[in-house]
Amino acid sequence: MDGLDTLKAKYLTAVANAADESALEEVRVAALGKKGEISAMMATLGKMEPDARKAAGAMLNVLKDEIDAALRARKSGLADAALDERLRTEWLDVTLPGRPRPRGTIHPVSQVMEELTAIFADMGFAVAEGPQVESDWYNFDALNIPPEHPARQEHDTFFMHRAPGDDRPPHVLRTHTSPVQIRAMTEQGAPIRVIAPGRVYRMDMDQTHTPMFHQVEGLAIDRDISMANLKWVLEEFCRAYFEVPSVELRFRASHFPFTEPSAEVDIRCSWEGGQLKIGQGDKWMEILGSGMVHPKVLQAAGVDPAQWQGFAFGMGIDRIAMLKYGIPDLRAFFESDLRWLRHYGFAALDMPDLPGGLSR
Ligand code: PHE
Repeated sequence: MDGLDTLKAKYLTAVANAADESALEEVRVAALGKKGEISAMMATLGKMEPDARKAAGAMLNVLKDEIDAALRARKSGLADAALDERLRTEWLDVTLPGRPRPRGTIHPVSQVMEELTAIFADMGFAVAEGPQVESDWYNFDALNIPPEHPARQEHDTFFMHRAPGDDRPPHVLRTHTSPVQIRAMTEQGAPIRVIAPGRVYRMDMDQTHTPMFHQVEGLAIDRDISMANLKWVLEEFCRAYFEVPSVELRFRASHFPFTEPSAEVDIRCSWEGGQLKIGQGDKWMEILGSGMVHPKVLQAAGVDPAQWQGFAFGMGIDRIAMLKYGIPDLRAFFESDLRWLRHYGFAALDMPDLPGGLSR
């Protein structure tokens, strides 16, 4: 067995020079792999004389162990170096303060919609919906507001665009939730008990008006529904919503084309030191419009006014949200200011329900 020292020097140098684990593996295969140089020499042992074989075999085994040991040592050295490098580049200062992500809250309008839905659901009212872009028939005609009626002007309507030459009446952004009365009755017939919360639009903008705001419509039709039922339902609602033991409502005669008789409803309250108190005091605050559904409206929705009658009301959601939660300026509702939302908003997952309390 000549040249073992040369072989040893060759492989130990190769091991020392291997720059990474895959280069090292190549060295291992070349020396100790099945077809490697050392293995090939092992294979020649069989043809030797017993004494020579013994001596050569022992030397080869020593060489093999030496190369193997060098490979292992280099391998763990490389792994340590790789880890050091990773630790250096993936360095993270765990003592840095956390960076809080901007977090939103439930908007007061959403909260109030959930609250009033829970209250009316408890009285047997289902939720109905309609489109915000509405035909003028649903928004006006079906509600007994013919084209020449002055109420059309009072509504400050936004009209949708029509292509030039298309002279069908334009669609409108609904000016109130009352068209949902027609849609709900047309779809479900009578008897019916629904509320319809949603967005409405009027061309108006000051501290108490925004071009988009929210209303909730109420509708109850049956064989013998009266103004007395309307009064009870509204009182029950206000007591539950404002979370006070009792409320007092005042019905003022009024006029809407779609109800007869019609009434605007005020709630007794007081202003003390800028603080509004619902339920007691010597002031009245208007909160909604209401009345007995006009026979022409029932007819337009395919409900026979000789057999059915009932009440409807429309209430401003933003207004009652401001009243309950002491929010002074309506415009802030729609400015998407996170600081405002954090102050007036509600925790997600705190869904209002009657047994759990509405505004925990
Ligand atoms: N739609 C009316 C409004 O927007 C409110 C209303 C609804 C009045 C239902 C009576 C009955 O002012």
